[in-house]
Amino acid sequence: MTKQSKVTKAVFPVAGLGTRFLPATKSVPKELLPLVDRPLIQYAIEEARAAGIKEFIFVTARGKSALEDYLDHAPHLSATLQNGNKTNLLAELERIRMPSGAVAYARQDEPRGLGHAVWCARHLIGNNPFAVILPDDVIAGPTPCLQQMVEAHGECGGNLVAAMEVAPEMVGSYGILDAMPGQGRLSAVKGMIEKPSPDSAPSNLAVVGRYILDPAVLDQLSKQTIGAGGEIQLTDAIAAEIGRSGVHGYRFKGQRYDCGSKAGYLRATVAFALERPDLRDDFQACLASIAKPQVAAV
Ligand code: UTP
Repeated sequence: MTKQSKVTKAVFPVAGLGTRFLPATKSVPKELLPLVDRPLIQYAIEEARAAGIKEFIFVTARGKSALEDYLDHAPHLSATLQNGNKTNLLAELERIRMPSGAVAYARQDEPRGLGHAVWCARHLIGNNPFAVILPDDVIAGPTPCLQQMVEAHGECGGNLVAAMEVAPEMVGSYGILDAMPGQGRLSAVKGMIEKPSPDSAPSNLAVVGRYILDPAVLDQLSKQTIGAGGEIQLTDAIAAEIGRSGVHGYRFKGQRYDCGSKAGYLRATVAFALERPDLRDDFQACLASIAKPQVAAV
């Protein structure tokens, strides 16, 4: 087994414009949209913490300052909750509080794509393997996806991407893998293509928003190669490392919700509300009443 450095840094690219959620995202960052009462970014942070991440690097942009406020300690709010004896809420704020110095920010000055966003964090990333988490991909399951991947990365090293099968007509929305038949959940990757047309896609095994990357990917990104959609694609930089630092796909165990799309976000909202003991019964009754054919009003 190859000896791997521990993965302790995660990059959260949150500089995208979130156009699919306009007009809401005109002033509210997509990553702060809540699933019930927790913003998407909170799920991503908790997944990273569970995987042993200690340094959290957010790549932000103009209009995203609400995210920085969200990640900051709010003493006035804590004091108000304390005075009002709202101990549960106070405990929740303490639970999610980020340790001092654990959060760093890099700025993406222009929305030039996911690859460019990751590259903007290069000086903060340094020379060890690092994780990338896209907060709009929410993955639920008994073992957090990134934790599964950190364990798998200990076996394969190099670059590791989260993979799942998607409907053949959806391949044009994803990076698609050409993978060797694998043992268990890991497969060596021999090709990768961003947003292929259905007839040129090598498979329907898609990359979703969790990565563990070798710093060599940052050197590939430095070439600033423009890819699909006129953007600097992370997929292309990882693909360039096939045969060098190496690339594996990992079929994670868990349910993934595409919260970057309206339908996926609504599905996640319903699923997460139904998981909540304090909401489940009322919400189930509410859904049943909505689903019932309505009697026409007179
Ligand atoms: P998306 O492709 O979902 O783009 O980005 P988006 O801008 O967030 O949303 P739409 O498509 O306009 O609705 C995937 C991830 O990459 C980040 C986004 O913030 C998101 O986490 N990203 C994308 C950047 O940080 N910078 C970019 O230039 C593009």
